[in-house]
Amino acid sequence: MIAVTGATGHLGRLVIASLLRTVPPSQIVAAVRTPEKARDLASKGVVVRQADYSRADTLAPALAGVDKLLLISGSEVGRRIEQHKAVIAAARQAGVKLLAYTSILHADRSPIGLAEEHRQTEAAIRSSGIPFVLLRNSWYTENYAGAVAQAVKMGAHYGCAGSGRISAASRADYADGAAAVLIAKNDQGGRIYELAGDESFTLAEFAAEVARQSGKPVRYQDLPEAEYKAVLVKAGLPEVIAGMLASADAGIAKGALFDDSRQLHALIGRATTPIASTIAAAPASKA
Ligand SMILES: NC(=O)c1ccc[n+]([C@@H]2O[C@H](COP(=O)([O-])OP(=O)(O)OC[C@H]3O[C@@H](n4cnc5c(N)ncnc54)[C@H](OP(=O)(O)O)[C@@H]3O)[C@@H](O)[C@H]2O)c1
Repeated sequence: MIAVTGATGHLGRLVIASLLRTVPPSQIVAAVRTPEKARDLASKGVVVRQADYSRADTLAPALAGVDKLLLISGSEVGRRIEQHKAVIAAARQAGVKLLAYTSILHADRSPIGLAEEHRQTEAAIRSSGIPFVLLRNSWYTENYAGAVAQAVKMGAHYGCAGSGRISAASRADYADGAAAVLIAKNDQGGRIYELAGDESFTLAEFAAEVARQSGKPVRYQDLPEAEYKAVLVKAGLPEVIAGMLASADAGIAKGALFDDSRQLHALIGRATTPIASTIAAAPASKA
């Protein structure tokens, strides 16, 4: 049995879809916080079980009989270390033979604020004794889809990433990578994958591509980190989220999300999705 946590999220759904290409649905467990959201998966024959990271009582039953587990990092920033530790403990109890975890690119040395919860989760996985695979994902190209309309409207894209390069790939690319690891016939235990897009871009190049596709002038405006955070707060984002996003950009400026090892390409056996495709799919990309 292969279980995927967070299976009703964007990435989790894509992993399940990828697995279903080769694995019978009865051998896939969608371990989800809210089973009602997974009715479509159940109707395909996927085994749906409740697994709430904050409710330890749900975790051991959800993982019963599971051989391989994909732990998709949770979305409740600040609570994730304890939540992930609860899943790891349940996996050990259930005798899981391989635990794959979606971490962040170069987690061991990433200066991005969000990396700390991933580092601590990685440490907990290592000390659990369960054979593990670290899927250290770079940014999703989709992170920028929502920025396209705003950039076209404002004539500018704001950030504090300087000329840092971002090696992003689409969620579907990372999902196929995770599925490839889960169905691999060879032993994956102990592997650490740095997963990133084939191509990288700066935010100035992102703005230039938005301008090219929309036919409207769009420039990149680089700001000091504190100023960028203030812009995000003014735009209505909560202080904490604004700080996280500004920290991420500051990390990008230092090369935190650049990787040219093409490990994701090798894992999925095809080119990753370029940022231009994500921009093209965004509603405001055409004039
Ligand atoms: N690499 C990147 O660029 C990037 C960007 C954003 C996020 N991430 C990370 O990657 C993860 C997957 O991305 P995504 O796009 O699929 O995010 P998403 O659509 O927000 O999905 C997050 C999933 O985590 C589940 N979850 C959250 N808290 C939970 C809990 N207490 N118990 C059980 N499940 C819980 C959610 O369950 P529900 O369906 O019930 O809400 C959802 O299925 C995110 O959670 C985050 O850690 C990475």
